Amino acid sequence: MSRSFDVLVIGSGIAGLSFALQVAQRGHSVAILTKKNKADSNTNYAQGGIAVVTAQTDDFAKHVRDTLVAGDGLCDRAVVREIVRDGPACVQELVALGLKFSRNQATGGYDLGREGGHSERRILHVQDMTGKAIEDALLKALAQEPRIALFEHFFAIDVITRRKPARPPPHGGDRVLGVYALDVRDGRVLTFRAPVVMLSTGGAGQVYLYTTNPDIATGDGIAMAYRAGVEVRNLEFIQFHPTALYSTTGKRFLISEAVRGEGAVLRNAAGVAFMRGYHRLGDLAPRDIVARAIDAEMKKSGAPHVWLDITHRTEAFLRTRFPQIYKACREAGINLARDMIPVVPAAHYTCGGVATNLDAETSLPGLYACGEVACTGLHGANRLASNSLLEAVVMAQRGAAAVDRYLQRARRLPAPAVPDWVDLGGGDIDERVVITHNWDELRRTMWDYVSIMRTTKRLERARTRLANLDREIHDYYWNFSIDSRLLELRNMLQVAALIVECALQRRESRGLHAIADFPKKLRRARPTRVRQARLRIPR
Ligand code: FAD
Ligand code: SIN
Repeated sequence: MSRSFDVLVIGSGIAGLSFALQVAQRGHSVAILTKKNKADSNTNYAQGGIAVVTAQTDDFAKHVRDTLVAGDGLCDRAVVREIVRDGPACVQELVALGLKFSRNQATGGYDLGREGGHSERRILHVQDMTGKAIEDALLKALAQEPRIALFEHFFAIDVITRRKPARPPPHGGDRVLGVYALDVRDGRVLTFRAPVVMLSTGGAGQVYLYTTNPDIATGDGIAMAYRAGVEVRNLEFIQFHPTALYSTTGKRFLISEAVRGEGAVLRNAAGVAFMRGYHRLGDLAPRDIVARAIDAEMKKSGAPHVWLDITHRTEAFLRTRFPQIYKACREAGINLARDMIPVVPAAHYTCGGVATNLDAETSLPGLYACGEVACTGLHGANRLASNSLLEAVVMAQRGAAAVDRYLQRARRLPAPAVPDWVDLGGGDIDERVVITHNWDELRRTMWDYVSIMRTTKRLERARTRLANLDREIHDYYWNFSIDSRLLELRNMLQVAALIVECALQRRESRGLHAIADFPKKLRRARPTRVRQARLRIPR
């Protein structure tokens, strides 16, 4: 069975929803495919807020400078300038949809938060539930847009391309024709046809055993783009958030950096505040530095966590400013106003991803990427806090304008036949537990060998283990009927292998990539790039 639209959007987080609204407003028909419920996204979990210049004391040059400093020499300056400059107008569009950022009771103006690496208070937030407020506002607007069809529980498997290059590869003559997607509820694979596919599938935090990310973050879009022969970039730069709530269950609830923005102090096992010894900005140093400092303190003391101390603030303040964090800590038996919080770093953000330009275009005509899945050059070697939601809204708008232009041309191109998916699977997997075992092994391997501090030996060890897993998973993929868990495992494995390849390519320590064998920074910063010779799409 097949369905046709002008534009397919994969994912219903801030990037996908913002882009879909923009494209629909330009008169195009849009299908959003999302693999779980519509609000299941990293977006829904965002706490700190959106970094954007609004204050009188702030300006674009300062925000640009902070972004470049955090990015440790690898940001694309032109991209940083454009995204920072477009920020206020794009964020205003969210306000126009009904989003109400928290206001300062005394001044009536925005209550601006502060996070690591920012030289000014510039984070717009909705208490500590900014992402949920954004997701709600976007979904509400979407419900009123007749040109958008939303398909929940549809798992995008692979991008369909023309695959008849008139000119030599990489993409001469090739272009996007749609996607194959699994209807998760009945197991059928449908063909969605469209000349444009926007990947807005978010990041890959689930590749690691400990992560702040929800279950959806399995790097699907990165793996899909890679399989389509599109360049992926800078995947070694996995951002570990310094302060996730420590628990013995393995779950990692985020304690926002905004808590440090309100004066919280990190203390080691002996109760000593240690960040001043690592960076002049102390507890508000860029994230890579804070995460490494915590890692070092934990290794020194052997303690399973460090402490975050905000006990100098009143209970009334903490309850109002951080209601979600207050509640989660309370449930864990911690009263923020009286007790210190046990915290550990956890995988949080994928700085690299599918390489795009400032129009969200990838190297494959008709394939676009936006949000955490993409690598525009904004974040460089380490994302500045709260620049992710900013990038998503700005790039959604720029991508929509570019897609509008592309569709004028694409409409004149012939529409080749697209074969339906052929399921070669030989039946149901008898022992589903094997998938769970492989899933666990993959995540533990990445945590143990490709974490905050790296060595070439450990990376090579990870590469070998991943290759073994790959062989097993490949057998499953080809021999059994697919399901979403297996598809996620395949994608996570591919992304994990790409992270390792990029990490091995980078023979220096820069930003989030710290490797003991190459402790110095090279004079010239270059992105790492990986592109696969195109594979046949399995069907
Ligand atoms: P997501 O919001 O992750 O959405 C991805 C969507 O794609 C989901 O709907 C998912 O189901 C869907 N999807 C994935 N694969 C498939 C597939 N194969 N088929 C169909 N659908 C698919 N950033 C900030 O700037 N400020 C913050 O304060 C902040 N706080 C954060 C707090 C937490 C706990 C976390 C985890 C992240 C935070 N971030 C923050 C990062 C930020 O939330 C994300 O980078 C951003 O929301 C990503 O948006 P997105 O639209 O690109 O992806
Ligand atoms: C946080 O609130 O600490 C997360 C902010 C971000 O990831 O940008």
